[in-house]
Amino acid sequence: MKSLPLLFLSLALSFASGVGAANRVGDFTLLDHQGRSHQMSWYGDHKAIVLLIQANGDQAVRDTALRLKNVRDEFEPQGVVFFMLNPLGEDDRAAIAQEAQQPGYDLPILLDEAQLVAESLGVSRTAQTLVIDPATMTVVFRGALDEVAAQGGSAAAPGKNYLTDALTALLAGESLAADVPAAVGALIDFPGRSLDGSSISYAQDIVPILKDNCVTCHHDGAIAPWSMSSHAMIKGWSPMMREVLMTRRMPPGQIDLHLSKPMEGVAGLSVREQQLLIHWINAGSPRNKEGEDGAGAEDPLAALTFDDPKFTLGEPDLIYKVPAQGIPATGVVDYRYVPVELNLDRDVWVRAMEFVPGDRAVLHHIIAYLSSPADKTANGRDNGSPQGESVSGFAPGRQPDTFRDNSGRLIRKGSNLLLQMHYTTSGRETVDETEVGIYLYDQPPTYVMSGGVAGQRRFLIPANVKEHQLEGEQLIERDAYLYSMTPHMHFRGKYMSYTAAYPDGTSEVLLSVPRYDFNWQFSYELKEPVFLPAGTRLIVKGAMDNSDRNPRNPDPSRPVHFGLQTKHEMFFGFTTFRYVGDTPQSLTGGGALHAKAVGLGLSSQ
Ligand code: HEC
Repeated sequence: MKSLPLLFLSLALSFASGVGAANRVGDFTLLDHQGRSHQMSWYGDHKAIVLLIQANGDQAVRDTALRLKNVRDEFEPQGVVFFMLNPLGEDDRAAIAQEAQQPGYDLPILLDEAQLVAESLGVSRTAQTLVIDPATMTVVFRGALDEVAAQGGSAAAPGKNYLTDALTALLAGESLAADVPAAVGALIDFPGRSLDGSSISYAQDIVPILKDNCVTCHHDGAIAPWSMSSHAMIKGWSPMMREVLMTRRMPPGQIDLHLSKPMEGVAGLSVREQQLLIHWINAGSPRNKEGEDGAGAEDPLAALTFDDPKFTLGEPDLIYKVPAQGIPATGVVDYRYVPVELNLDRDVWVRAMEFVPGDRAVLHHIIAYLSSPADKTANGRDNGSPQGESVSGFAPGRQPDTFRDNSGRLIRKGSNLLLQMHYTTSGRETVDETEVGIYLYDQPPTYVMSGGVAGQRRFLIPANVKEHQLEGEQLIERDAYLYSMTPHMHFRGKYMSYTAAYPDGTSEVLLSVPRYDFNWQFSYELKEPVFLPAGTRLIVKGAMDNSDRNPRNPDPSRPVHFGLQTKHEMFFGFTTFRYVGDTPQSLTGGGALHAKAVGLGLSSQ
């Protein structure tokens, strides 16, 4: 008797949220079958977003796609954007790319691997069409494309064109017909639905995911602005968590796992982890699942402790203080180029480098360039480029650089560091006193690590352009192993990939960052170094978004060219690699640093 009112309440709630969720969809980001990233809010300047629910080998979808082509021809020029959405987590990308050869399939197929978008759209069958109003992110139409689709392809004549009528009404600002029949399509299986909110345990299911993927940054004293320190904090931040998970902003630094080679410690949640988190949040982020009695039990998040040593790699052999940088409370701080004098009395072999930011709230990233004594005469600053190789760097969440496989980098006596330092303001004035620790080999290592770059330095990105593609390459002159890749662009950077074009004519993608986020300058380290035979060209391809759709863009009305300052742009794909033949003996014996040839001397297109 006592539990009856509660039961009613929970029924009523799940009904209401079911309906609400079906019409209002939050922003979301999905990759398409070619690995391109699409965030719905980016299409906010469009009048409508149309989705066709797709499944491989589904005849109803194939027929609908053909007739949808006419609708696209009519409405695309009027500012309507069209996608297919594949909500079948198990269809792999190769199979979907194969299916995309079908006539009428020349549009991006969004891959909803965790099925969370399909769930929030309230989709249950294939071949349905949906219209989202991007201004409100609500579903304003859901049903059959036309009468044929509603009757499963059996109607003699096309009859009513429901989607066309809906788009016409929407564009004219008129109200849409309410009673649109559904298309006859296949039922979609949602295996993840069995993970409903009431069966998910905060302590056993949620906390381990947060611990493995989020808490390293989200704890007191770490870089994230809020701490995942208790159930109450998580519950309070749950709506934002859902948003950043659905738009793939967090965890930061996600790559396209299908296209990229396996990387060390790469960010991202499994399908099951995404479903657990979102379903739990949708259920109201309960402290206890049904029947679980957590009363008096310790909150496992609150019980976590953190050991945050200053230098995570241990005590460095050399520690340098970077000259203190005063940072204003507000405004945009241009990149600063800060020299650090090393005062070395001999050549040294470096096995690792670590930066300890003075004020994590403002230090955004560092790229450390090495200026060797030879650069002093031909200091290349006249063309606005810091001469020298990049040796190391810092970014929130980036691991300190350690050179693997008993390899190291040579810093010659007389060399100095030039740090490209980027700060963001935090609302209060502060002084950043960053330190850099250098770890040395006692004996010269077996191998020599080099730094290179593929990029482009001469470009002009027109004003208001949504996608301006750029490309650059690094020629690998002798047999080498590639270890890591660090894409670097400024505010307008949109995506970047690295491809190895081998001398035998084959090529393969090594890394794809489909949604570059200027806030994060990650360095991606290959699990297994990739062999690059002499003559391999490492090609970076990417694009800039200089439109007002890019929320980070400081000024879409201006063309942008290459430059050192934040308001200018850069298009660099940094690499760390070692030439097979380079040993400390060959390097110090021969004098010249081979790697210099590829320093910042970019392909000059
Ligand atoms: C590498 C460090 C790092 C990791 C890992 C990380 N975060 Fe964050 N998070 C940040 C930083 C820094 C910010 C603030 C700056 C920003 O929004 O990019 C932030 C912001 C957020 C916000 C607030 C967004 C806003 O606009 O206010 C949420 C919510 C969030 N993170 C959730 C998560 C979740 C959930 C995970 C794990 C799945 C996670 N984060 C993993 C560093 C991290």
